[in-house]
Amino acid sequence: MADKPHASGRVKPGDVTTTVGREVLEARGIDVEMLREKLVDAIGAEFTTYYYYSILRMWLAGNEDYKEICEDARLEDRAHFELVLPRVYELGGQIPRDIRDFADRASCPDAYLPDPPTTAAILEVLLEAERCAIRTWSEICDITHGKDPRTYDMASRILQEEIEHEAWFVELLSKERDGVIRPSGHFRRGNPGDAPHSKNNPFYNP
Ligand SMILES: [Fe+2]
Ligand SMILES: [Fe+2]
Repeated sequence: MADKPHASGRVKPGDVTTTVGREVLEARGIDVEMLREKLVDAIGAEFTTYYYYSILRMWLAGNEDYKEICEDARLEDRAHFELVLPRVYELGGQIPRDIRDFADRASCPDAYLPDPPTTAAILEVLLEAERCAIRTWSEICDITHGKDPRTYDMASRILQEEIEHEAWFVELLSKERDGVIRPSGHFRRGNPGDAPHSKNNPFYNP
């Protein structure tokens, strides 16, 4: 009989109290509980940012181009929440029963509408929210790189979109606030909510 080294392992046959998917992460030195709680915090930020960007977008009235770019970033944050939510449960975690707890533990600050809600002030809030997201998903990439390909793949897809979002808002804020052109490379996303990396849609490449 051929040797089948993966036919059994530390998880006993029929054991439903854990998963091999989790056990292999522990074997590679990942603190699974720490990781999944960081994922809850990170998608908490995606969820709250989706909410706050809804308000910020409304106040960009008159700047239809800015509004559209804000909308792309807003819907992509919802896609980021959706992408990682199942991973939290796969790793034995859950999101808080009370949405207030979820918002409180979000890994990024509330992206409140500035007072006064000038276009430049709104763009600055958007920019700093993207920067927090880049720091958050970079940390998840670092923790999972070479150890947890599934979470790493999700985090790196999200990170790519967050890096694009930062570049978009650098371009817009620089023009709006300082009158300085700093091209981001952005043209158009496609349809609102396309989220090319996190939803596996084609990205703009004519
Ligand atoms: Fe996001
Ligand atoms: Fe973003």
